[in-house]
Parts: sequence; C-alpha cells; structure tokens
Amino acid sequence: MSTIRQYLEDPFLRLLYEDITAAGPIRPIQMDLTHACNIRCQGCYFFSEELDRHKAPKEEEVFDRFLDQEEARGTNFITVLGGEPSLMPERLKKVYDRFWMLVVTNGLRRIPQEGFEGMPIVVSVWGDHETDTRLRGNGKVDVFARGLENYRGDSRALWYYTTTPGNVHEIESVVGQCVDNGNYVGFNFYGDISHRGGSVDHRHGFGAVCREIDRMIERYPERILLSSYVARVVAAGELYGDRWGHDSCCTLTVDHPVNAERLKNGRPYNPNFRAFNPDLTTTRRCCAGDERDCGNCFECWAHFSWIILNLEPHLASKQEFTNWLTTMYLFYLSNHIVDFAAGVELLPEIHRRTLPQSEGPAVLPAEMDELLADVL
Ligand SMILES: C[S@@+](CC[C@H](N)C(=O)[O-])C[C@H]1O[C@@H](n2cnc3c(N)ncnc32)[C@H](O)[C@@H]1O
Repeated sequence: MSTIRQYLEDPFLRLLYEDITAAGPIRPIQMDLTHACNIRCQGCYFFSEELDRHKAPKEEEVFDRFLDQEEARGTNFITVLGGEPSLMPERLKKVYDRFWMLVVTNGLRRIPQEGFEGMPIVVSVWGDHETDTRLRGNGKVDVFARGLENYRGDSRALWYYTTTPGNVHEIESVVGQCVDNGNYVGFNFYGDISHRGGSVDHRHGFGAVCREIDRMIERYPERILLSSYVARVVAAGELYGDRWGHDSCCTLTVDHPVNAERLKNGRPYNPNFRAFNPDLTTTRRCCAGDERDCGNCFECWAHFSWIILNLEPHLASKQEFTNWLTTMYLFYLSNHIVDFAAGVELLPEIHRRTLPQSEGPAVLPAEMDELLADVL
C-alpha cells in the first residue's frame, strides 16, 4: 500500500485514482437482452454456438424479476448484448434506469436520445465499408454506413472496431470516419472461430494492428478510449508471464460447474460475474460462449478485467502502476461511471503516459509478423 501511496504523489495519477474510488467498486454481469438479431455476422460467437436457442422471456414480469434479483444480489453494472439489444428498447431503458451499464449494438437501429441520454453505446464495426459489408452485411448491407448515419454527432457512441490482421491498412480510414462523425473509438480483435482463414486469420498475429492503433492514438488522442498498453496485452495474450486462457480469465460465471476447478486455482476472478443467456435463467461459461477456444478470444472487456484484477504485478514501478491505473480509468470512463465529459479531457495525458516510448520489443514473435507480410 505504501508503494501505491508513493506513486499517487503524482497529481495526475491521484486525480484518476480519486475519481475511481469516489465511484466505488463495480459488481458486473453480462446479459443478452434478446436472442434475435437483424444481421448474421460471419463467425459471430453468439450464433456459432447457437446461443439464440435460449429464447428471451416473453413476459415483462420475468424480465423485471430478473433485474430485481440482480439488484438484490448486489450487481451494479450490466453489459448488455445479444442478439441485437436495440430491438428491445423498452427493456434496454429498464436496465439503464437502474444500473450502470453498457450496450453493444450493430448500429442498424438508432437507440433514441429521449430516455437514453448519456447511455454508453458501443457500436460494432469490423472494417471499412467493403470489408464490413462482406463480413457483417451479407455482401449487401453497408452496416458501417448505417451506424455512421444513426450516430452522427452523437457523443454517446463509442465504436468497437473489431480489427483483423490482413485489414490493417483499413484502420486509418475507419478511425478517421468515426472521429469525423463526432464519436469515440475503441478496438477489438477478430477471433476466427469459423476458420475462414486468409486476411481474418488471427493466427497471423496482431503486431501490425497494434502499431497502427498506436499511430491512431497519436493522431486522435482525445478520441480513443483504448490504451496502447491494453491493446498489447490483448494481442499478446500475456500478462507478466501468465498466458491468457481459461485458467487465467477473470470473467467467468462463478456458479457454473465447468468453472469450479478454475476458480480454485488461486488466480483472481470477479466473484459477482455471471454471463446470462437470453432466457435470463441459464448461464454460460463466460462472455464468449460455452465452447469457445480461449486461444481465439481477444475480447477486450474481459482483458480489461484481467489487467484490473492483477494489480499486484503492476506495482513494481510507477510506469507499470500507471499502465494499471489508466486501464481501470478507461474502463470507468468508457462506461460513464466517472464523469464522461470531464474524463475525456484527460485522454491525451493518459495516452502520453502509456504509449511505448520507443519501438520496443515486438508484441508477437517475429515469425508472426512474417506470416502477416504474406497476407498483406
Ligand atoms: C454478439 S455481438 C452482440 C451485440 C450486437 N448485435 C453487435 O453486433 O454488436 C457482441 C460483440 O461481439 C463481437 N463479436 C462477435 N463475434 C466475434 C468474433 N468472432 N471475434 C471478435 N468479436 C466478435 C461483435 O462485433 C460485437 O461487438
């Protein structure tokens, strides 16, 4: 603790720390608001495992009772997914009115302002117009264009840009369009669970993607809500010698039998977490499914938790503590748990302190970058 106190003599770190502690701890769950979706993205984890077989309850009372139960259990934060949550705006509002929350949408239907003012809305995109239309719009619908239109000038919107190794050259254009649209940007990494291969094959590695993300952060520091540090941890799947996987992931459904052994292995985990299927009765192993191979899971929010719950190894130096504290702050900020308008003013300084100072060591082994060169 005295080490932390010493690091917090830095006024900027103290400011971040005080904002977070004033808000208090997060007790999160994830819920699918509906089993239905208006598109079929290629390799979507939700439909790959047919999680839509768990139908959302028809009765409003069942839904309300679920929220009551979670509130009584101490849950104070809900990540709302699906299916496509914008298809059920009334239920979305019920969540918003009672919890800190985040909704993830494909952007095809606009979540209205009225009643949803200030809601953190994560809008998914998988590439520039042609790529996104191919991967998400069945080759016909320009889903990215519709999202841009629906959220033009809307500061609630944070684009969640799922990048792929072979489409690194699109990053600059996509980020530029999102920023010009008056929105914020975060990143995600595509897990090629349906083995499409080629440009979307995660096995090529995300080294070049990370370097491009750094360039975007340098260009738009006031608009990017992911730090270089978090991106590199996700891409490398490594944290202080620990490898990403079921043994180390911290966001696992705590009362799911498949996780029982893992939760005894001494590594940290979030004791409140449950990932609810759309029926709101059954749960799955983790955010990303029951069967998902952790080797192709680059789910950014789960990696945020991995970093946040591993404070101890980040205490060795002020820089490492800064990496940890800014991760925590970016999580609170993206989810509007701290004051959003004031917090985004701090983004340039957060990035200044967390961007690599030099080229540094490659995130991934050199042979991965060579493989990548074949794709580009
Ligand atoms: C299943 S979707 C549900 C929410 C909403 N329908 C949407 O499209 O954003 C949740 C998130 O998972 C992401 N996702 C789905 N399959 C993925 C995959 N194979 N790799 C990386 N992200 C994926 C989507 O891009 C989206 O951001």
